[in-house]
Amino acid sequence: MKRRAFLGTTLAGLGALLPGCGGGGGGGMGGGGMGGFMPGLPFAPGASLAPGLALRDLPKLANESALAGRFTASLAAAPSNTSLVEGRTTALWLYNGLFPGPVVEVREGDRVRIALENRLPLDTTAHWHGLPVPADQDGNPMDPVRPGTTRVYEFDIPSGTAGTYWYHPHAHGTVAEQVSRGLAAPFIVRAANDPLAAIPEVTMLVTGIRLDGNGQVSPNGPLDFTMGRQGEQLLVNGGRLPVHTVQPGATQRWRILNATSSRYLRLALDGHAFTLVGTDGGLLGAPVGPLAEIVVAPAQRVEIVVAVTTAPGARFTLRALRHVSDTMGMGTYSSEDLLTLATTTAAPVASIALPATLRPVVDPGPAVAARRVVLTQSGMGMMGAMFGFLIDGRSFDMNRVDFVSTQGAVETWEIVNDTFMDHPMHLHGTQFLLVSRESGGRVTPAPHAAWYDTVDVPAGTTATIKVRQDLPGRRMFHCHILEHEDAGMMAVL
Ligand code: C2O
Ligand code: CU
Ligand code: CU
Repeated sequence: MKRRAFLGTTLAGLGALLPGCGGGGGGGMGGGGMGGFMPGLPFAPGASLAPGLALRDLPKLANESALAGRFTASLAAAPSNTSLVEGRTTALWLYNGLFPGPVVEVREGDRVRIALENRLPLDTTAHWHGLPVPADQDGNPMDPVRPGTTRVYEFDIPSGTAGTYWYHPHAHGTVAEQVSRGLAAPFIVRAANDPLAAIPEVTMLVTGIRLDGNGQVSPNGPLDFTMGRQGEQLLVNGGRLPVHTVQPGATQRWRILNATSSRYLRLALDGHAFTLVGTDGGLLGAPVGPLAEIVVAPAQRVEIVVAVTTAPGARFTLRALRHVSDTMGMGTYSSEDLLTLATTTAAPVASIALPATLRPVVDPGPAVAARRVVLTQSGMGMMGAMFGFLIDGRSFDMNRVDFVSTQGAVETWEIVNDTFMDHPMHLHGTQFLLVSRESGGRVTPAPHAAWYDTVDVPAGTTATIKVRQDLPGRRMFHCHILEHEDAGMMAVL
């Protein structure tokens, strides 16, 4: 009752703010190939990147250490002028001048030491998303790296962490801006005995970019801080609709990272089903499939194995299908093409069979504590947002501790979403298991055991997770729609 009345008011408010908005689930395309937003929303068609170039192989961050078991490297976050659209120079913020940033690739057991030099005009940090690093090495908002200074991060990569992670800034209030200007890159941890080592792999970092008519990254406005940043062109490894060419019959492992600020990727590949082999924290116990589609929420990663058609000279599209991420139709993303899979005219290569089991996902045991966290909305948010999204009724304060857990204790968390939007909720410091989802009184157990650091909690539903923090310190818990995080949808554990 109360919720309905509230939504009525806010809908009217949005209508007033958005002249021409019909309020329905749109799905139309804007000009210049910038899909993904509703007709009537105030995004001027901007400059778009030329589609159809070859999929880029992301450069690796060079290891400066010759010692076994050490990974030592340097990153500089700095303004950088890049040529993205014909005849224009786009001012970005990049790691080591690269768009996207360099891939950190390490092995389980490595000691990592990465120096981050901040040449940006504002505070930044490097956050090692999903990795169990000590709290004081995690690039938390409480540890800003000031402009003109260098910070060295040092941590170990424990065994069992092999998987696909990423790194990005976490300076409070400007994460969305820093990521949308180019600061995001993969961080891959390899195992000594990878059961899929025989399968060729490709890393696909999906990012979004919204350019104005001059080819400059458009800033976030109140609507972005309310709904997440819409109207972006989706890029894979920095290219728009790149072409990935393989031999017919090839078996490939794709590590797909959703580094967009707010775009849910409901992935489907024309003419192909695929097999899910890994999530945020690495491999599943056993392959899951065949699947026709999979949703990768903002910040999540998946590893899928694709058995490519044996047809020579064929082309298939990897799409991010239409997705509705709220109950008011404001967060409707139309279907967009992400990448073209093309086969060569060579004779088909033999396929590679998947092993029956991958890596055990070991349940941490019975929970000794239960927590219930409620996501709500308020009438007016920070950063000009039309709503504030709150965790247990509060907006972020980095000087406050919101939850206390005991080191090593297994907990269940019921994350209740009482807002009109879906929120991909992310917890630092560890990987967790999804136990079940509840929607309209119906509880659905998780279909398979998998490690996550980000769980989507759709509007009006509850997700229950099982989690254990093995390292002490302050950990962030937040929505990974970066504009929501910046506007205060974050708590301290
Ligand atoms: Cu990827 Cu706290 O963030
Ligand atoms: Cu994180
Ligand atoms: Cu959110």
